[in-house]
Amino acid sequence: MQTSTSSEITLDVNGEEHALSVDHRTTLLDALRERLDLTGSKKGCDHGQCGACTVLVDGRRTVACLQFAVAAEGREITTVEGLAPEGGALHPVQQAFLDLDGYQCGYCTPGQICSAVAVIEEHAAGWPSAATDDVRPESGASSLTPEEIRERMSGNLCRCGAYVSIVEAVARAADERAADERGAAASTEEAAV
Ligand code: FES
Ligand code: FES
Repeated sequence: MQTSTSSEITLDVNGEEHALSVDHRTTLLDALRERLDLTGSKKGCDHGQCGACTVLVDGRRTVACLQFAVAAEGREITTVEGLAPEGGALHPVQQAFLDLDGYQCGYCTPGQICSAVAVIEEHAAGWPSAATDDVRPESGASSLTPEEIRERMSGNLCRCGAYVSIVEAVARAADERAADERGAAASTEEAAV
């Protein structure tokens, strides 16, 4: 029921629509965790400072503790539970974190992984960061160096200090994505000959 302090909304989460009645002050993080039982996104600081609650909203990184659920209506929300393709395989970023021990206690890991997925796409799209030396468009794409990864992932804190392995995992996933893209481009060229 809609009141002056609550609304009926529909959230599109991981490809499924969920109808909810929410108080206007309910954060997206609380709606995901408390109402939809999607507890992968973690509450660390609840103040937008640790990144543990990071989810993707229309493909962009968002700290869900600072977003009101009502403001997320009509947006495509992806949580760590929705990253893996159907069929059992993990998302390449999840697999890289697993293979390279990109975690210790794991509390920050869902946020790190969601953030890394978006970081890799942001970099592939040519978005510069504060660590990018030359931001002129004609200078071409920079490589995703450890320094770039540390800068772009700086909103995600890890109290266990697993940063060395996290940077390695993000770098491996980015390399795999780049190799896949080169492979797809080569196949398209071959098909055109
Ligand atoms: S819980 Fe959202 S940024 Fe820390
Ligand atoms: S793995 Fe424990 S906080 Fe990051």
